[in-house]
Amino acid sequence: MQVKVKINGKEYQDDVEPRMLLVHFIREKARLTGTHIGCDTGNCGACTVLFNGRTIKSCLMLAVQANGAEIMTIEGLSTNGLHPIQDAFLEKFGFQCGYCTSGMILSAYVLLQSNPQPTDHEIREALEGNLCMCTGYQQIVESISYAATKMKEAGK
Ligand code: FES
Ligand code: FES
Repeated sequence: MQVKVKINGKEYQDDVEPRMLLVHFIREKARLTGTHIGCDTGNCGACTVLFNGRTIKSCLMLAVQANGAEIMTIEGLSTNGLHPIQDAFLEKFGFQCGYCTSGMILSAYVLLQSNPQPTDHEIREALEGNLCMCTGYQQIVESISYAATKMKEAGK
């Protein structure tokens, strides 16, 4: 089946098997490998992307269901250098192996768009669909809180 989607502002069109998952389309057809596959069953959040502005787990959607949609992956966040959330993760040690990080950052991005000064509790709630096996979450929460402060100071 033909699929046409816009990813990070660029159009991708291809013939795919009807059963192809969106995460596989993103990684294998669009070659955007910042979107990770952790579980393939909707549990870990490593495959999180923005779908028409909202976070989804791209392993839970077929590529054909995304036909006509606008998607943003982690690569789309850093087209002009690192985004302040990415900088904050670097400065506050918000990752170790990095496997969960692109999903964490995209969930944080959506949170900060609607709630620019979230409490730690609100950050933890926003991340409940994203699992991390390494950090214990504390540095991730600190990174997002720090990003919120930096973005406020920078007027972003
Ligand atoms: S790979 Fe999609 S939620 Fe884990
Ligand atoms: S940094 Fe390794 S899974 Fe989160």
